Order: sequence, then structure tokens, then C-alpha cells
Amino acid sequence: MTTRIAFIGGGHMATSLVGGLLARGANAGTITVADPVAEQRERLHRDFGVHVVDHGVAAVHEADVVVLAVKPQQMAEACRSLAPALAVQRPLVISIAAGIRLGDLSRWLGPDVPLVRTMPNRPALIGAGITALYAGHEVGAAARTAADAIMGACGPTVWVPEEWQMDVVTAVSGSGPAYFFLLIEAIEQAATELGLDPATARKLSVETAHGAGRMAASAFDSPAELREQVTSRGGTTAAALEVLEAGGLRAILADAIAAAARRSGELARDYGTA
Ligand SMILES: NC(=O)c1ccc[n+]([C@@H]2O[C@H](COP(=O)([O-])OP(=O)(O)OC[C@H]3O[C@@H](n4cnc5c(N)ncnc54)[C@H](OP(=O)(O)O)[C@@H]3O)[C@@H](O)[C@H]2O)c1
Repeated sequence: MTTRIAFIGGGHMATSLVGGLLARGANAGTITVADPVAEQRERLHRDFGVHVVDHGVAAVHEADVVVLAVKPQQMAEACRSLAPALAVQRPLVISIAAGIRLGDLSRWLGPDVPLVRTMPNRPALIGAGITALYAGHEVGAAARTAADAIMGACGPTVWVPEEWQMDVVTAVSGSGPAYFFLLIEAIEQAATELGLDPATARKLSVETAHGAGRMAASAFDSPAELREQVTSRGGTTAAALEVLEAGGLRAILADAIAAAARRSGELARDYGTA
């Protein structure tokens, strides 16, 4: 059976997921995206050939799976407007929103709607994402497998056993691409300041990040072992790493990731109690 998927919200993340699904062979005719913004709808239809509608209710009435892809602050209103239609249709509902708890989603959507909470990330657009998923005990194996298959179209998946861990996931992989973009940006800037032309600096920093990421993902050795293998005593890499360690890079990253996890918890309090 073909799974019919409705996206509620057609912004950045829905675009990434739709792109990933189509790249893995999904049929555009099985995907409907609801978004109130005409420009978003035109772009999604033009780029992907998916159905587009201006309101969620029109998207969910034939859906097997509904992906909630609006901002956390828009979630209560979006869910409440869908609740009557979902009570009839009973599709699997997948939320990708940062922070919003399953308990709040269930309160807004109505009882007995099978719910899975997920945290994808932006590289889903090119099939290089990673998604963490969480569901309560009441969600059965078939629903878990369906959620895994959809989110897995855009990269590997991991399941976490406790819902609070989604705040940590959000801080690590949800927000994480931005940390690596910042690193690439900073390395590129340093390279131009030391005399390379901007295009060469960009290429060297981007390709180095790409190569290091691929090696870390595929190698049997841990990242620490890989780092040691490229660091000879008294050499150039050692000189750079000494500066990074002395400057407290590890502590800065730990603080940054803790701040993101805290913010994820705050989003639940700010927008989950509506
Ligand atoms: N961006 C990321 O890297 C990332 C990563 C992981 C998870 N997420 C999660 O993904 C979700 C979406 O983020 P995003 O960056 O894709 O946001 P976005 O670009 O703002 O997209 C959300 C879209 O949904 C529309 N919308 C609002 N209310 C709606 C409704 N009731 N029905 C249908 N569409 C509605 C918005 O329209 P308006 O502009 O008119 O409001 C907007 O076009 C968030 O909850 C976020 O936490 C994002």
C-alpha cells in the first residue's frame, strides 16, 4: 500500500523532508503540503510537484501519516484546527517541532491519535540528515516502523527511550549543523586573513569538514583516535590543538549545547501550556 503523507507547514524543514523523500523514490502524488503562504505553496509545487493546499484540514482528510512541521509557537493552534478531522481519520501523527511534548500534542489533537515525536536536521535536504525519534509505550510496532521509514528517507534514525532526552538530541543534532557551519565559516575567515583568496579558503574549509565528517562516520576508530593519528608531536596540528584546548573549546561547546537543551525545555513551557 502507498503511504499518503500530509505535511502541516511547508517551510524549511518540510522542504528538506519532502526533498529527501522524493530523492529516495517517493511518489510526489502521495505527498500533500499545507501552508498558508502562497509563495511557499508555489515553490513546493514547482520544485517537487507535490499537492499543495492552503489549510491543514484539506491536507489530512486522506492521509495515512501527518507530519506536523510548523514552528513550536504555531503548534497549539495548528493541532486544534486539525483535531476534528483527525478524530475521524486517525492517521499516524509525527511531530518534528523542537521542545513540544507528546502530552501537549495529545491534549491539542485529542485522545487515541498515535503520536511519534522526532527531531530531524537540516541536511535531510540532501539525504544526509539524522533523526531521533521517541514514542510512548502505547504506540505499536507498525506505527514505529512507519515513522522510522519516513524519517529514515532523509538519513539514519535513532530512537531514544526517554522523552526528556529529546531536548539533548535537539541541542546536538537538531541545532548541530549550525555549529559546524560556524566552524567552517571561522576557518575560512582565518584562511583569508592569513592570505588565501576567498574562493580557495572556502573550498579548503568546506572540503576539510566534509572529509573529516565522512571519515569520522565511516572509520572504525573513534574521533579521538582519528585526531591523534593526524597529530604528530611538535607538528602543525599539535600547535593548533594546543591553542584550541587552552582556549577552552570543549567547555565552550559543552556550555553551548547545554544552553540549547535548556532552550528546548523552555519552548515546551512557553508554547506547550496553551
Ligand atoms: N529548521 C531546522 O533546522 C529544524 C530542525 C529540526 C526541527 N525543526 C522544527 O521544524 C519545525 C518547522 O521549522 P521550520 O524552520 O521549517 O519553520 P518555517 O520555515 O517557519 O515553516 C513553518 C511553515 O508553516 C506555516 N504554518 C504556520 N501555521 C500553519 C498552519 N496552521 N498550517 C499549515 N502551515 C502553517 C508557516 O507559515 P507562516 O510563515 O505564515 O507562519 C511556515 O510557512 C519547527 O517546529 C522546528 O522546531 C526545524
